[in-house]
Parts: sequence; structure tokens; C-alpha cells
Amino acid sequence: MSPSLPDDETIPAGDPIALFDAWFAEARASEPNDPNAMALATATPGGLPSLRMVLLKGHGPDGFVFYTNFHSRKGQELAANPHVALLFHWKSLRRQIRIEGPVSEVSPDEADAYFASRHPESRLGSAASDQSRPLDSRETYLARVAALRERYPDGHVPRPAHWSGYRVRPNAIEFWHDRVHRLHERRRFVRDGDQGWTSTLLYP
Ligand SMILES: Cc1cc2nc3c(=O)[nH]c(=O)nc-3n(C[C@H](O)[C@H](O)[C@H](O)COP(=O)(O)O)c2cc1C
Repeated sequence: MSPSLPDDETIPAGDPIALFDAWFAEARASEPNDPNAMALATATPGGLPSLRMVLLKGHGPDGFVFYTNFHSRKGQELAANPHVALLFHWKSLRRQIRIEGPVSEVSPDEADAYFASRHPESRLGSAASDQSRPLDSRETYLARVAALRERYPDGHVPRPAHWSGYRVRPNAIEFWHDRVHRLHERRRFVRDGDQGWTSTLLYP
């Protein structure tokens, strides 16, 4: 008799946000560092992709939030094409989560609150950085940080208007889990209307 497949499934149908919460909690408990690190793919309107890591700084039913410099390469690409893909890979858990959807900007209040929560030196560093622009030497960057530190000795530099957050509203979320003999398991959830989700297993 062949084994009963449904009994063997470990990725439940239902609410993908709750499932994300559960897997993220396990990653926070087991990953050696940055369990919130995720790859962020953007693309030009012509379809040329680019990819880099960012940190997840908030998530919930409304979406997945990261912060960055809106003048950066990713910021310019997002201004022209808001569609992104996110990828988490938790190596020691042998799990992957893929998220796809459009971004919107977080509110200025939300960005201010997150900026204020950062270490003073990190605030100075991001305010001093023309992210993604050419830099003649590291000394130039450090000198800009030092100049801001002199101006704002407590580190309370104001949040630059171009430094803020994006919220990715997921249209699709896919969970992948390593299984024995590479008979891996995948379940893809697709948004169905305003509230609900439908899901299906996919061949690995
Ligand atoms: C683990 C990790 C986390 C990172 N987190 C962020 C982040 O939250 N925001 C950010 O702007 N850059 C972050 N970076 C730097 C980006 O990967 C990237 O170098 C930078 O944002 C410029 O990307 P761009 O030129 O494509 O815009 C992180 C890098 C690593 C390796």
C-alpha cells in the first residue's frame, strides 16, 4: 500500500500569514544571526532584474516592511515598477518562503518611529549615505558621518525624507520545506479577493 499523502504533508492550507509567523518564530529561535534577512528582487519597467538583501522590520496581514534609501538603485526601480519578490532562506531549518506583490510607502509617522528606534550611529550612517551612488573613498563617507555627528552630538539626526520604508502587499506566498530524498514539499498561496487565500501544493 502506498503511504497516504495527506497524512504526510507538513505545510498546512489555511492562513499563510499565520504560517509565516510560525516559521519566522522558529527561525528567530534557531538562526545564528539575522533571521529577518531576506532577498529583495526588483526590476526595471523593461524587465531587467536586480537583487539584494534587506531586513524585514515589520509584518502582518497588511504586508512585509523594509526600510531603505528611496534614491538608491532599488528605490529608483521601485518608483518606476512597484512589483517585487522577497525570499527568505533559513538554511539550518531547510526552509524557503517566497513572497510576491506590489510595494507602497509606509506613512511618515511609521518611518519616523522606526528611524528613532535605530542606534544613533546607524541613524547618522544612513543620513550620511548617498546609497548606491559612486564614492571616491571610504574616508569621504566617514567624514560625512563625522560632520553629522558634530551637528547632532546625541545622534538625533532628523530622518531624511528619502529614507523610509516600503510595505510589500503579498499577492502570493509560497512555502518550501526540505524533505527526505529531495521529495520536497511546496505550497503556494494566492490571494483570493480582499480577505481570503487559496492554496495548492506544487511539484517540487
Ligand atoms: C544581511 C543584509 C541586510 C541588509 N539590510 C538592508 C536594509 O534593510 N536596507 C537597505 O537599504 N540595505 C540593506 N542591506 C544592503 C543591501 O543589500 C544593498 O547593498 C543596499 O541596499 C543597496 O542596494 P541597491 O543599490 O540595489 O539599492 C543589507 C545587506 C545585507 C547583507
